[in-house]
Amino acid sequence: MSGLFVSFEGIDGSGKSTQARLLRDALAAQGRDVVLTREPGGSPGAEEIRRLVLEGDPDRWSAETECLLFTAARRDHLERTILPALTAGKVVICDRFADSTRVYQGVSRGDLRDAVDRLHALMIGREPDLTVLIDMDPATGLSRALGRQGTEERFESFGAGLQERMRAAFLGLADEFPARFRVIDGARDVEVVAADVLETVTAALAAPPGALPPDPRSI
Ligand code: ADP
Ligand code: TYD
Repeated sequence: MSGLFVSFEGIDGSGKSTQARLLRDALAAQGRDVVLTREPGGSPGAEEIRRLVLEGDPDRWSAETECLLFTAARRDHLERTILPALTAGKVVICDRFADSTRVYQGVSRGDLRDAVDRLHALMIGREPDLTVLIDMDPATGLSRALGRQGTEERFESFGAGLQERMRAAFLGLADEFPARFRVIDGARDVEVVAADVLETVTAALAAPPGALPPDPRSI
């Protein structure tokens, strides 16, 4: 038995965490075994790395060093949390995964996509079965993200221009990997987005392993 690995991606404040939680609740209510996790983090060691990368001066790390730190955190998360849960047949819902590194370190902070991909192939070698991209206008995302309290403001302080480039980069990945990406409009009421997400994930759960149904939007 093998579970389903679902990642949520999108710019800061697009509603990923909210939607990941709602999806977990909806699937759990159906009696499914679900693990909700996040990156960077999701295992004790990776949560320690999260603090290193997300707190402190925005210039603390170069894009290259960041790429190594995020990949180290991901390797630990994969070994200790994600793969054991999938092997046990659970649904793993992950708030961000490798596509975030492709966008944030690979595109937005320098032209490192090739290095990101090579490191991924060497150390991670696994993609989600389904990636839900919560797409929305960056101005709305930024105002939502800045409205939150907390110390993890390093990335959010980068501003609207960068968020616009990241949105475009996420949409570019959806074009590059159409088999696993599904793009969902996040600029709607929480419940409307959640219904769309649940429909998408339910279709993936009903499909044979490794064979997601075609994206209804592309037919
Ligand atoms: P992300 O994880 O993508 O950064 P969050 O889920 O933390 O986004 O949402 C950012 C903020 O926006 C939170 O305060 C959340 O309550 C709010 N929010 C999330 N989804 C919506 C929505 N569809 N409409 C309005 N506000 C939302
Ligand atoms: P997250 O807590 O998901 O932020 P938000 O809820 O605001 O979307 O992620 C923290 C930040 O880490 C976010 O700005 C994106 C960044 N990040 C990377 O730069 N590279 C990565 O590989 C990951 C997973 C996240």
